[in-house]
Amino acid sequence: ADPEPVQDFCVAAPHGSGGPAFPGLPCKPSSSVVSDDFFFAAHARGASTDNAMGSGVTPGNVEAFPGLNTLGVSINRVDLAPGGVNPLHSHPRAAELVHVVVGEMLVGFVSTEGRFYSKVVREGESFVIPRGLMHFQYNVGKSAARAMTVFNSQLPGVVFAAQALFGAEPEIPDAVLAKSFQVDAEIIKLIKSKNRKG
Ligand code: GLV
Ligand code: MN
Repeated sequence: ADPEPVQDFCVAAPHGSGGPAFPGLPCKPSSSVVSDDFFFAAHARGASTDNAMGSGVTPGNVEAFPGLNTLGVSINRVDLAPGGVNPLHSHPRAAELVHVVVGEMLVGFVSTEGRFYSKVVREGESFVIPRGLMHFQYNVGKSAARAMTVFNSQLPGVVFAAQALFGAEPEIPDAVLAKSFQVDAEIIKLIKSKNRKG
């Protein structure tokens, strides 16, 4: 069988022109590898939650932490202000284990059968999101909340629902979205106005 994809795509480079290896990224020579290559400190601090979602994710994937290359794991830190949400998204390449370190959050996902599974998860407790399914974390407590999220991929990939549908570049035609959601194009334009980058 083919190896599992570890990135969205890997268009073949013209013969002899190099480019990233598949799967994963090229390795540095082992003679130059040092202990710090296996160390990651960025999660000692959280990301700001001072934004429209009230949430901040600090990624710890292979792009941030090169020592993870080919090891099949990665870890994020998720910070949520009271009422903050890490908005609906999915990971095409990984299951996600959500371990709550501070506070309490509603964690939920929707299965391929359209069933919504969710739980209020508190300090020291965990919840698992099966690979590829749409999910969120929502701070239902009165104070800041924090989770560490662990993945069985060095680069899980993330598709934010609202951004993917209403903020894609170039745009998905309004008519396609209006038909898909069974609403007027005006409503699509309104949602698009909130999801454009920049
Ligand atoms: C949380 O859902 C995350 O992807 O880090
Ligand atoms: Mn996630």
